[in-house]
Amino acid sequence: MLSRLFRKPSPNTDVPLPPRKLVRAVGGGDFAAIGEEFFPYFTDLARLQPHESVLDIGCGCGRMAVPLTLHLNASGSYDGFDIQTPGIRWCRKNVTPRYPNFRFQVADVYNKKYNPKGQHQPGEYRFPYDDDSFDFVFLTSVFTHMLRADMEHYVDEIVRVMRPTGRCLITCFLLNDESRALIKDDKSTLTFDYVVEHTAVHRTSVPEAAVAFDEMAMIEVLEDRDLTIDKPIRYGSWCGREDYLSYQDILLARPTRA
Ligand SMILES: C[S@@+](CC[C@H](N)C(=O)[O-])C[C@H]1O[C@@H](n2cnc3c(N)ncnc32)[C@H](O)[C@@H]1O
Repeated sequence: MLSRLFRKPSPNTDVPLPPRKLVRAVGGGDFAAIGEEFFPYFTDLARLQPHESVLDIGCGCGRMAVPLTLHLNASGSYDGFDIQTPGIRWCRKNVTPRYPNFRFQVADVYNKKYNPKGQHQPGEYRFPYDDDSFDFVFLTSVFTHMLRADMEHYVDEIVRVMRPTGRCLITCFLLNDESRALIKDDKSTLTFDYVVEHTAVHRTSVPEAAVAFDEMAMIEVLEDRDLTIDKPIRYGSWCGREDYLSYQDILLARPTRA
């Protein structure tokens, strides 16, 4: 497991842990440990600097935000949005008062799993930020819950709000020869046997529960929008792979013109 090679942040004991119900709403697990695992992917892989502006798409209840509170300085900023209100409310109450440059907002966007009463379609949602606003944009386990056309629209929005010198880190499930072979050999807990709206899904009743994209198709979506993917792609353990960095696959992309 390669993540051991990265340095961990010091824990921020000023921010309490969210209630278990909120942590369960973003998939459960060890809230602090997962945030600490990702911190060096942001700072070492994506070279996030303390003065930079960050956008966390689908920020949940602040699992990635909390470790960043000790990294970003007063010139830096963090914005997060999510379609679930309780996590955002918790972050506004527990993070923003201590770190006013950390802002959180709700997007009332539909998702069958996370916000079935959402008013706006993800494929039409305009992020509430100006063009060229962010140095670093990330989505941890969000494209694993979005259908293909909606994901493509979010990439359009990312390109709009990211600066030409920006970087974007995406975690996802990528189907390629290796992951498909492992799925076929029964090594993977997720099998993505069904196709809904041009998207490989693990189950059809709630397609957004777990979504995968063909690797070449994902690369095409990014390259069509003038994003270049840093190599190597950091593949994950989700499909039973023995050599991995994290659980999900990690892509780091940046505007080609940079
Ligand atoms: C598995 S959780 C991950 C949360 C957070 N990124 C983290 O790593 O702690 C998936 C998150 O994506 C959010 N989400 C799903 N669809 C979304 C959308 N269209 N826009 C923004 N967030 C979305 C969900 O509400 C949920 O909080």
